[in-house]
Amino acid sequence: MIFNIPLALSCLALSIYQTAQACQFHDLEAAASTPRKIAIKNVRVFDGYTLRPSGTVIINGAVIGDEGDECGAEIIDGQNGTLMPGLIDIHAHPANISHLETLSQFGVTTVVVEACFVPAACRSLQNHTGLTDVILGSTPAAAPNSVHGNITAAVLGANTTLLVHNASQAVSWVDEQVAWGPAFIKLIAETPGLDQQTLSALVLAAQAREMRTVCHINAFGAMQQAIAARNEQIHHAPLDKPPTAEMVSQMAIQNQISVPTLTIMKAIASSSGHTITPGTNFSVALETVRRFHEAHIPVLAGSDANQQPGLVAMVPFGSSLHGELQLLVDAGLEPVQALRAATSRAAHYWDLRDRGVIAPGKRADLVLVHGDPTVDISATRNLARVWLGGVEWTQGLGTF
Ligand SMILES: *[C@@H]1O[C@H](CO)[C@@H](O)[C@H](O)[C@H]1NC(C)=O
Ligand SMILES: *[C@@H]1O[C@H](CO)[C@@H](O)[C@H](O)[C@H]1NC(C)=O
Ligand SMILES: *[C@@H]1O[C@H](CO)[C@@H](O)[C@H](O)[C@H]1NC(C)=O
Ligand SMILES: *[C@@H]1O[C@H](CO)[C@@H](O)[C@H](O)[C@H]1NC(C)=O
Ligand SMILES: *[C@@H]1O[C@H](CO)[C@@H](O)[C@H](O)[C@H]1NC(C)=O
Ligand SMILES: *[C@@H]1O[C@H](CO)[C@@H](O)[C@H](O)[C@H]1NC(C)=O
Ligand SMILES: *[C@@H]1O[C@H](CO)[C@@H](O)[C@H](O)[C@H]1NC(C)=O
Ligand SMILES: [Zn+2]
Repeated sequence: MIFNIPLALSCLALSIYQTAQACQFHDLEAAASTPRKIAIKNVRVFDGYTLRPSGTVIINGAVIGDEGDECGAEIIDGQNGTLMPGLIDIHAHPANISHLETLSQFGVTTVVVEACFVPAACRSLQNHTGLTDVILGSTPAAAPNSVHGNITAAVLGANTTLLVHNASQAVSWVDEQVAWGPAFIKLIAETPGLDQQTLSALVLAAQAREMRTVCHINAFGAMQQAIAARNEQIHHAPLDKPPTAEMVSQMAIQNQISVPTLTIMKAIASSSGHTITPGTNFSVALETVRRFHEAHIPVLAGSDANQQPGLVAMVPFGSSLHGELQLLVDAGLEPVQALRAATSRAAHYWDLRDRGVIAPGKRADLVLVHGDPTVDISATRNLARVWLGGVEWTQGLGTF
């Protein structure tokens, strides 16, 4: 009897006779053991690299299915929208599940937590099915009595073993962090702060452990230090003076990349919308990105979203990444380049090989929007549906 034929084989036979309904009988029978399958039809596909013509994308359980393998799939009409990979926010500070829910609502399916002070609290954000996936960074390496050192001291009380006093402490400090399992080492370049020798020693110690380094900078001088220390990634952008041509070419030669977090730089430069904070000029941050882009230095999307009162500026989760894409376009990226900065390129430079693109076998992190963000970046805001690891977000999408 046909009902005893294994599912795949019967589907093959049935597709020849084009009896989709009989195929669904089988799907019901096998539903308990077979992952849910969805065929999203009538969508143009930004696959992480480029826009493909109208077609169909299959979700098979937690991953993207093979093209054409629609047997037993529930059909969703994408209504000529654009399907794109879930967005990746490379720089944010979610601290609880509500923050992850907000990220999910806005189609941010992966977030990199840029500072973990209490490993157990950070780990509690990881691996929740149907919620934004979380990648954790180390405690930031900061000097005693620096702005960030004081933040560490405020969070951890009198226990300052996590502060870095000098270069001879670099190896043990990095080893202590590596021991709890962060995905990268976070360093802080600031004035006053870690001296060049200490910053460079921390980078070498991290590299010896095969750990990526991400260095915070907020000004020209800090950026010089971060470049000289050969950090793999330089986060934020200066507000005082853009990098010189020499600095930019040194970054290119050293394969250093940028996550400018224009959103928070703009928030810092313009408090309460009108007043300009003295000594800060947001055009400098835009000009920095323009120079990087011109020199083919990879620029990734990060918002610095956080809801921590007392820190430089509060930035909302999720919606801010869409704003960041707009700011990257303002700084000279084409809309597709901005989209890649939050999808395929972000995944590439973070070795997230299972995501960031729409291709068979990749995580089914997907965002469906009305309109075409490859032409008009603001179309990413017209959210229609979001899937996280194949699970649709059904608790209401973010609006602007
Ligand atoms: C989450 O999953 C990743 C990848 O499987 C694993 O490395 C990590 O330890 C998990 N974290 C928790 C808190 O379960
Ligand atoms: C950090 O805190 C110490 C002690 O309160 C203070 O003396 C120092 O000025 C602070 N550092 C900065 C950069 O604000
Ligand atoms: C201080 O922090 C370190 C690193 O997290 C930890 O191993 C140590 O137990 C803490 N000491 C105290 C007194 O809390
Ligand atoms: C480095 O800092 C540690 C911790 O404060 C201190 O014990 C050590 O003497 C310092 N080493 C040098 C070479 O200054
Ligand atoms: C702000 O920065 C831009 C870009 O570097 C520069 O052209 C402009 O003169 C600066 N404005 C002020 C007020 O310094
Ligand atoms: C998460 O933190 C925010 C403050 O940023 C707070 O309003 C909210 O209640 C917290 N949610 C949970 C579930 O703890
Ligand atoms: C589909 O959407 C694109 C871009 O938004 C538009 O140019 C095209 O006319 C639409 N096609 C149909 C059949 O609606
Ligand atoms: Zn940050």
